[in-house]
Amino acid sequence: MANYSILVLNGPNLNMLGVREPQIYGKDTLLNLEQRLLDKAKTLGVSLSCKQSNSEGELVTLIQKAYQKIDFILINAGAYTHTSVAIRDALSGIDIPFYEIHISNVHKREPFRHLSYLSDIAVGVIAGFGLYGYELALDAAVKYLEQAHK
Ligand code: DQA
Repeated sequence: MANYSILVLNGPNLNMLGVREPQIYGKDTLLNLEQRLLDKAKTLGVSLSCKQSNSEGELVTLIQKAYQKIDFILINAGAYTHTSVAIRDALSGIDIPFYEIHISNVHKREPFRHLSYLSDIAVGVIAGFGLYGYELALDAAVKYLEQAHK
């Protein structure tokens, strides 16, 4: 199998996992999640990098930097999912397949969380599986890449 590069990108407030509304987002920290994903990537034989930023512009820059370096992006854009044309444009511009991830089931929550600027250009969306959603997404991304490069 080719050594695929996958980027996990987390947006605003996701650095506060474990502290932030644990009844919605759980008690686990971002550091723990990233470590689990790195371990899993190793067993899957893919390269994984994890980034988080609270800033919209920084997220745009990180997406641009992925151009021609990264094979697949797993992105939880947090609240920017519901507001950011800039992040959408950045993802459209680099032509890298991506999954949109949400820890919570955004469709069960406030109406403003039902709109996503990313869903219609994502390969898929994972929402409501807690932090396990990232692991599902990583498995699915590897399957997608294997299929696409057959
Ligand atoms: C979130 C859902 C968003 O509505 C919210 O703004 C977040 C986290 C989730 O993972 O469930 O920051 O993306």
